[in-house]
Amino acid sequence: MLFVISWHLCNLADSMAVYHSSSTNNDRVGVLEICLKDILIEIKPVESHRVERINAIRQLEECLRGLLVFRGVVVSLKPFGSFVSNLYTKWGDLDVSVQIDNTPPNSISRNTKRYYLKNILHALRRTGLARNTQYIPNARVPLLKYISRHHNISFDVSINNHFGVMKSSILKWLSEIDDRFRDMVLVTKEWAKAQNINDAKSGTLNSYSLCLLVIFHFQTCDPPILPPLRVICEGSISNQEWSSFSERHVEDVCSANIQRFRSRRRVNKSSLAQLLVSFFDKLSGIGNSASEYSISTFEGRLESITGGLRSPLIIEDPFERSENAARTVRVLELHKISNAFRDAHDKLSSSLVLSDRDSLIFLLTRPILASRLRDQQPVTNYNTRSQHSNFATIGVLERQFENTVRLDRMHSQASTSVASIRPTYRNF
Ligand SMILES: *[C@@H]1O[C@H](CO)[C@@H](O)[C@H](O)[C@H]1NC(C)=O
Ligand SMILES: *[C@@H]1O[C@H](CO)[C@@H](O)[C@H](O)[C@H]1NC(C)=O
Repeated sequence: MLFVISWHLCNLADSMAVYHSSSTNNDRVGVLEICLKDILIEIKPVESHRVERINAIRQLEECLRGLLVFRGVVVSLKPFGSFVSNLYTKWGDLDVSVQIDNTPPNSISRNTKRYYLKNILHALRRTGLARNTQYIPNARVPLLKYISRHHNISFDVSINNHFGVMKSSILKWLSEIDDRFRDMVLVTKEWAKAQNINDAKSGTLNSYSLCLLVIFHFQTCDPPILPPLRVICEGSISNQEWSSFSERHVEDVCSANIQRFRSRRRVNKSSLAQLLVSFFDKLSGIGNSASEYSISTFEGRLESITGGLRSPLIIEDPFERSENAARTVRVLELHKISNAFRDAHDKLSSSLVLSDRDSLIFLLTRPILASRLRDQQPVTNYNTRSQHSNFATIGVLERQFENTVRLDRMHSQASTSVASIRPTYRNF
């Protein structure tokens, strides 16, 4: 845990330097930089959003406590996904894995998972905690979706999703390498939503793919901001071993690798605005190259497609390399995605747009956010503001590790007060 904090402090120093250099050297993209700060303030969750999510998870846990089907097993709820990797927005979904402890990954069959989910579904209905419940037994990972009535938060519940939990931890460590990563992911997600290209159900990009594109961009800057994920995962996992990995081992190995990268890298000090402009520039050709190359964040480069996987767009899942994270993208929609990148690149190449706050906001945000931002006074003293919004205190950082809410319920104690709810601190 200690070195996690010290990375973060290094990070603070780096980003201070970044913001200072960008404010003095803020020629062409100055208005965009300020604009991005304002957008981020609107979409970044604050402490109360985090607490709200923890409370919503506790409520689900409360509901599971009474379930007969879990009698005699140790069950814990583990949030994962963007909430845990700290890449969520105020409106983001909440992914929760119901972990049946002391069972190795993959030891619970699909049917058992479905059975558990159905029981949870009935419990949610019975208690009236949920609205818009949706049971999706045939998804890649059997899933239960609902909206918490009290907290108005969308849940995706799965069973023993060790893999999802592991992936989001790695993304979290990655986001701790450089603050600009999280900002870029949030900004591009909002842009993609505004352009209607962030919706897996309608054939465009899911948020995970979008996040991988940002990673790819940061890996292919010169000097790079992030290393190939191979460098981070080296020695921790291979495709074959995933079924039997130990989370503790992956954690140790990845942390050591990340620390090594941080200590040896040359820092790319480009501002967020400059990175966004080069992101759109780089990816405006995505439609043209997609039939020949796949995007590999594991290797940190484009890779030639050699038969096998056929898909309009291939963004390799770095943690399951035979899987295509962009498998939902359809041909027609790839054009739409490609056009959106090209259009953004064209607009940001025009000094007319680049110097006009309203045009930038119109390009980058959805109408509801745009109208809120237009009513605001532009922030002039953005140096003060960016420090305020970007720099987490150590206290906040530590509290992120409280995310795991646990319910230990041994059979022998079932008659007495069913064990109290307590957060467990992950033992870093
Ligand atoms: C619930 O959240 C959605 C977006 O996540 C929002 O559009 C809606 O207005 C919220 N509803 C309430 C009652 O707050
Ligand atoms: C950061 O990377 C970009 C993209 O490769 C490059 O153009 C830029 O010069 C780099 N910036 C710095 C300050 O090193």
